[in-house]
Amino acid sequence: MIAILDFGSQTSQLIARRLRESKVYCELFPWNAPKEKVLANSPEGFVLSGGPASVYEAGAPQLPQYVLNSGKPILGICYGMQALTNALGGEVAASARREYGAANIHSSVPNPILTGDQQVWMSHADRIEQLPKGFTVIASSDNAPMAAMADIARKRFGIQFHPEVQHTPGGSELLRRFAVEVCGAKQDWTPQNIVEQSVSRVREQVGSEQVLAAISGGVDSSVAAALVNRAIGDQLVAVFVDTGLLRKDEREQVMQALRATLDSELVVVDAAEEFLSALKGITDPEEKRSIVGERFIRVFEAQAKALGHPRFLLQGTIYPDVIESRAAEHEHAQRIKTHHNVGGLPEQMDFELVEPLRYLFKDEVRRVGLSLGLPASLVWRQPFPGPGLAVRCLGEVTEERLARLRAADAIFTHELEAANLLGREDAALAQAFAVLLPVRSVGVMGDRRIYQETVALRAVTSQDYMTADWARLPGDLVTKISSRIVNEVEGINRIVYDVSSKPPATIEWE
Ligand code: XMP
Repeated sequence: MIAILDFGSQTSQLIARRLRESKVYCELFPWNAPKEKVLANSPEGFVLSGGPASVYEAGAPQLPQYVLNSGKPILGICYGMQALTNALGGEVAASARREYGAANIHSSVPNPILTGDQQVWMSHADRIEQLPKGFTVIASSDNAPMAAMADIARKRFGIQFHPEVQHTPGGSELLRRFAVEVCGAKQDWTPQNIVEQSVSRVREQVGSEQVLAAISGGVDSSVAAALVNRAIGDQLVAVFVDTGLLRKDEREQVMQALRATLDSELVVVDAAEEFLSALKGITDPEEKRSIVGERFIRVFEAQAKALGHPRFLLQGTIYPDVIESRAAEHEHAQRIKTHHNVGGLPEQMDFELVEPLRYLFKDEVRRVGLSLGLPASLVWRQPFPGPGLAVRCLGEVTEERLARLRAADAIFTHELEAANLLGREDAALAQAFAVLLPVRSVGVMGDRRIYQETVALRAVTSQDYMTADWARLPGDLVTKISSRIVNEVEGINRIVYDVSSKPPATIEWE
């Protein structure tokens, strides 16, 4: 295992992802995490991330002494290199010319991590003025004569550029060489091993107790359930709440996919009436969200009670959630404060959490899902908000309007899937759905005036859903979709296409 100490760079997570892509297991820790926690899994080497500070400023993050004392290999990246330099008695100073963007480095000294000329991505204002004792320059650029340094005998390296970003094409290879060839880390982080490891962790945590799972049909909750099912079989009880706010045939599709994979009990709660009557007359988006969240808790509470209140609750928390919230790493006896998908569960619901995906990135979750036998259609499913169609049916949520929205959405997504644009590994679109607008407009159908509802089509490309762009769909395809919807869905006479990016718009309309 490789320990990455995070000094606050925007791209620290990417270091972890690149190493994992090389099948090397690594974990990311805040730079000042307790020594015991970082050393708990006996790291074979340390990577020090970049960061926004200057090492010579008062209070700047410093390299912890235990890292040097461990005698293990160290790779400092950007600020990490400067922190290493500072800790070893070298000198760091503000650079006369800041260096942001692409640069070419030339490596002339034989060393285990870098060779030849490479294009790299720089982003720094400080630079090394004087190397620490025992170090030599192993690569330089025009503006940074000390672009990379090494104390080869002690296996300590510093690089001024960022190997984790896309714009450093040889960066993944550099990280792999450091981890595998310098540190001797094993490349055994494969889906099969992840499953084996998680299975034994879950068994150890849960023993012979029951685990309750709320299944949404989303990727994370489904993979988490399949994993726990592999570990403890029918001690897992999965509950799927049909809120009446699901997409067309969604309940059947999710059930079919899970029944084929899970051999534990799957309880389906039909709560559509309850949700729809709670939403009657409500048009405000936040009110809708809070009503759906609250109802969900009620329904789930009743189920937990009916099942004798199991001791454990399964959560599909994934590694980015953990890193972002910097959550305290209590493995046991955590209390639930929030539900990752739907509102918040009340505090008096006292569960211990089982979080088998806690150390996995989204792409790893998907690969584990496939290796557990979940169908590709589920593993590559697009995201769907917890409040469901309630936030895509603008204005009042009624059964009649939901039926219209469902039908239009099914046509839209079906056509996109048929064109291979959605719902598969190499799909160009991150997300696409129909929105029913609270707008009527005049039209003409069979020589008669009609006054009907409007559907907006939303299709976006996005890497991480934090930013998104509207998708340039082929005109012919949009024409086909539009004409199918107005011809096949009663009550809709106008289709509009959403051409806004996020920001300033969001992906969902409410
Ligand atoms: P926005 O609309 O904020 O959405 O651009 C970003 C992504 O999050 C999804 N989304 C949700 N997911 N519970 C969820 O699990 C929610 O309440 C929720 N609201 C939005 C949205 O579909 C998009 O993928």
